[in-house]
Formats: sequence, structure tokens, C-alpha cells
Amino acid sequence: MKLRFLAGMFMLLSLSLGSVQADEGADLYQAKGCVTCHGAAGISPAPIWPNVAGQHKQYLVAQMKDIKTGKRNNGMSVTMQAIIAAVSDEEIEKIADWLSKL
Ligand code: HEC
Repeated sequence: MKLRFLAGMFMLLSLSLGSVQADEGADLYQAKGCVTCHGAAGISPAPIWPNVAGQHKQYLVAQMKDIKTGKRNNGMSVTMQAIIAAVSDEEIEKIADWLSKL
């Protein structure tokens, strides 16, 4: 019993250490509020928002930049535009890099 508790604690510890070493892209994804619509691990909680985990980096960067500039503009893009306006191209690269590795 005690051993199992210790094993559990060890697992928790390694999990939290994992998040301390988290990617800069992951931190930005949290800080910029992307998590609200695209989910903590890039899987959206609602069918109206796309899943973004595991997508190709190049594609993610292109979509975010196109939404930011208005080149991609359909009925749903407006939801993203206000958010992505506050994300620099460099930050977009970092977030896309992290998302592509999920
Ligand atoms: C208010 C909800 C909302 C928030 C917050 C939000 N998004 Fe989005 N996102 C959307 C919607 C809706 C779309 C689809 C837009 C369209 O159809 O043009 C989208 C599209 C995308 C796409 C393109 C997906 C694809 O398959 O083409 C990426 C990448 C993305 N968002 C990343 C982000 C990142 C990174 C953040 C944080 C900086 C963020 N989003 C914040 C709602 C949101």
C-alpha cells in the first residue's frame, strides 16, 4: 500500500517536472487563450472549433498567418482573428512547432 502511494507520488512528480520543462509553444498556447477553443492538448471540446494537435507545422503556420491577415476569411475565421492579432509571427512558429509534435 505504502509502496503504491510512493509510486503514485513519483508519477505525479515526474508529470509536474515534465510540465516545468514544457515547450515555450505550450506556454504561449496557454497564455494566449488558445486552450479555450482548441482544448488543452489541441483537441477541441466543441465541434465548431478545429482540432489542431498533430497537424503539420507548415500548414498550421500558414493557416494562422492567413487568418491573421484576413486572407483566410470564412464565417468562422472572425472568432480567431481577435485572438491571433495579438500573436506575433515568431510566437505563431513556436506554437505551431509544439502543436505539430502532439
Ligand atoms: C474563440 C475561439 C478560438 C480561440 C480562442 C482560438 N481559436 Fe483557433 N480557431 C477557431 C476557429 C473557429 C477556427 C476556424 C476558423 C476558420 O474556419 O477560418 C480556428 C482555426 C485555427 C487554426 C487553423 C486550423 C485548421 O485546421 O486550418 C489554427 C492553427 C488555430 N485556430 C490555432 C489557434 C491558436 C494558436 C490560438 C491561440 C493563439 C487560437 N487558435 C485561438 C477558434 C478559436
